[in-house]
Amino acid sequence: MTKLFSPLTIRSTTFANRAWVSPMCQYSATNGVVGPWHLVHLGSFATGGAGLVMAEASAVTPEGRITNACAGLWDEEQVAAWRAVTDFIHTQASKVGIQLAHAGRKASTMRPWDDHVIATESEGAWEAVAPSALAFDGYPVPHALSLAEIDALVGHFADAADRALRAGFDLVEIHAAHGYLFHEFLSPLSNQRHDDYGGSLENRSRFLLRVVGVIRDRIGDDTPLFVRISASDYTEGGWDIDQSVELAKILRDASVDLIDVSSGGNVAAATIPVGPGYQVSFAHEIRDKASIATSAVGLISEPTHAEQILQDGSADAVMLARASLRHPRWALNAAESLGEVIAWPVQFDRARTLRGP
Ligand SMILES: Cc1cc2nc3c(=O)[nH]c(=O)nc-3n(C[C@H](O)[C@H](O)[C@H](O)COP(=O)(O)O)c2cc1C
Repeated sequence: MTKLFSPLTIRSTTFANRAWVSPMCQYSATNGVVGPWHLVHLGSFATGGAGLVMAEASAVTPEGRITNACAGLWDEEQVAAWRAVTDFIHTQASKVGIQLAHAGRKASTMRPWDDHVIATESEGAWEAVAPSALAFDGYPVPHALSLAEIDALVGHFADAADRALRAGFDLVEIHAAHGYLFHEFLSPLSNQRHDDYGGSLENRSRFLLRVVGVIRDRIGDDTPLFVRISASDYTEGGWDIDQSVELAKILRDASVDLIDVSSGGNVAAATIPVGPGYQVSFAHEIRDKASIATSAVGLISEPTHAEQILQDGSADAVMLARASLRHPRWALNAAESLGEVIAWPVQFDRARTLRGP
């Protein structure tokens, strides 16, 4: 049996396989409420055999959205809309997770396909927040969060975790990567605070740790909790793999089950050595040195490559983003190419053989 198609159990959740769909913003929600696009988009990965479908970065407050078309989980209408998606995914052999997010100083932008980056007032722009009043490249200077505002955000994450369970999600992932709010706190390049949230690694991790604590309290012992991090800023004086390993140990001891290992996003000019599996070594190092489960992501598209990553002990699961968009039934086809026989949706059975009608 391949590793890719062997099950993985974390707490009370068993994933049928380790071919997972990475979270992908669709910039297609209205007031944070997802709709038919999200059902078809995410549902196609479930009919495609993915062991886990991670739903996109979903903001815990309206101001935490990247764009005003991003998904959210701050009200009951959003809970009901997500429920339609999770109910469908649960008709298949897949699990579904939600990525809880706050965009920090990278909030209030336009969708990638719009003709400009920063939203204007008439487009509903709002003031972005961050640990320090330091702008991301070319973005407006954000407002530095007060202690009371940090406290309030911790509460918003806790409430969103409650809603995630009511919306039917099997797990929660905290988005602490890609230059968004938690990453901004972690990196000395974007966090120049002089209070309990800045300076030492312990202080820079404090906001994330508090949120891990309140989310674990709300979701209980049965539900898996993942954290996505950027393992490196690829910039002198920034966040790096050694700090990531230390953070992973702290998160492991704080009841986090898996580190979803990405990189970059906090420094626009950073040079990232992009290539197949370019972030896999980070996942491997964190898994080895911090003794915690990891998922690997980043230019993984071949089934044999995905299998090799798991065989090498680099990660416990692989996540695919763009390859999933290109081939929503990636997992069904990958199983076949690796010689594994897995269940297909019965409606698709006739496609298993192309001989005759
Ligand atoms: C359309 C799109 C939207 C994305 N949105 C998110 C997101 O919501 N949260 C996140 O952590 N990463 C997001 N990413 C990054 C992916 O999850 C993934 O880490 C990255 O694309 C590298 O994996 P890949 O080479 O398999 O695409 C997005 C990527 C794409 C292509």
